[in-house]
Amino acid sequence: MIKKCLFPAAGYGTRFLPATKAMPKEMLPVVNKPLIQYGVEEALDAGLTEISIVTGRGKRALEDHFDISYELENQIKGTDKEKYLVGIRKLLDECSFSYTRQTEMKGLGHAILTGRPLIGDEPFAVVLADDLCVNLEGDGVLTQMVKLYKQYRCTIVAIQEVDPQETNKYGVIAGDLIGDDLYRVRNMVEKPKPEDAPSNLAIIGRYILTPDIFKLIEDTEPGKGGEIQITDALMKQAQDGCVIAYKFKGKRFDCGGAEGYIEATNFCFENFYKTGKAY
Ligand code: UTP
Repeated sequence: MIKKCLFPAAGYGTRFLPATKAMPKEMLPVVNKPLIQYGVEEALDAGLTEISIVTGRGKRALEDHFDISYELENQIKGTDKEKYLVGIRKLLDECSFSYTRQTEMKGLGHAILTGRPLIGDEPFAVVLADDLCVNLEGDGVLTQMVKLYKQYRCTIVAIQEVDPQETNKYGVIAGDLIGDDLYRVRNMVEKPKPEDAPSNLAIIGRYILTPDIFKLIEDTEPGKGGEIQITDALMKQAQDGCVIAYKFKGKRFDCGGAEGYIEATNFCFENFYKTGKAY
């Protein structure tokens, strides 16, 4: 079954400058927890315990976050502040963490390919930690996707209906409805203008990929912006075999920009922090 989860976290985070000049965007706190911790918690909830992170220059804080901090822990031992570290300790106890560095930021597809030595020849999940996903009503988004993978055994991408005027921010799909909230992908376009978009169903930062994707990325020429786009490799996978797009249950906040980040902060403050579920 799926055990591995890859976090591409090498991007520059230019939409959030200057905050991201010397700090990884994945370490931006939403209330009291960095974005990447929400992502790893979602992965663990889905049974994914082998966490692989693609980092880059200036991203060392990510590795330090998923490690023991002896001095600090000794300092708060026996005080009521120990509760603040219960969540992160659980992640350290139950997950393994491995890292590799992307030396040139050549896009998400390239970042995923950089993670290949950590993944090997097995299906795996991908989480873009700046997309914060929550579902208060039931299973987390990755848990929903792992269940679907067990049924379909092919690549699954999470999608969401977006404002038709905003398709130029996303990979957009066209597909045939094959079940409740499930589409078999026929076409996929990276960041189309609204008038060229095949639908308003946009791919967000959760994927389950079968390992043949690596070869397809290798064969992908740089696309928009000189970057190697995962959308192009997924399109080939959809043409040759099967890619399923899943309209997930829950909410997604784009924390790569200020607006989504503030919405996520308010949401998490109300639903997790104030209710004592934030650690
Ligand atoms: P984004 O385009 O959202 O991230 O990439 P970015 O480039 O960091 O952000 P902006 O647009 O400049 O503000 C989606 C995900 O892919 C990772 C990013 O870290 C993010 O999680 N990524 C992107 C890489 O790891 N490497 C890359 O070369 C590009």
